[in-house]
Amino acid sequence: MILILNGPNLNLLGRREPEIYGRITLEELEELCAGWGAELGLGVVARQSNFEGQLVEWIQQAAEEGFRAIVLNPGALTHYSIALLDAIRGQPLPVVEVHLSNLHAREPYRQHSLTATAAKGIVSGFGPLSYKMALVYLADLLEARP
Ligand code: DQA
Repeated sequence: MILILNGPNLNLLGRREPEIYGRITLEELEELCAGWGAELGLGVVARQSNFEGQLVEWIQQAAEEGFRAIVLNPGALTHYSIALLDAIRGQPLPVVEVHLSNLHAREPYRQHSLTATAAKGIVSGFGPLSYKMALVYLADLLEARP
């Protein structure tokens, strides 16, 4: 089972700056992820929170809850949350960081990811397909190490 976590403001997908983030809603994105997961033989649970502490708790508890990996879009927390970074570092599961937009093509303050320093890798710029690529990677990783 894979835990997909979306951070602040991602509940507004579809309405929020659609020229950057597209027109797909969070619900539709989560449905797509469930479908991709099923194709890859991975169960997927998706959660979203606007609160840093809630995300920290979900990350802390993921292994105990029985998840085997985390796909994380930390939203703006990407760029400054040492708490989220520490949460990722303090738990055993592989974390893949994803972004809908290409951080490197955006404002200078978005071009650095603090959280990605603790992630296995980062997929950025492919819209919803960033999540699919993360799942493809995790399916391979988890199959190799059951
Ligand atoms: C984002 C990029 C972040 O800089 C921004 O704050 C978001 C979304 C993305 O998916 O492209 O909320 O994480």
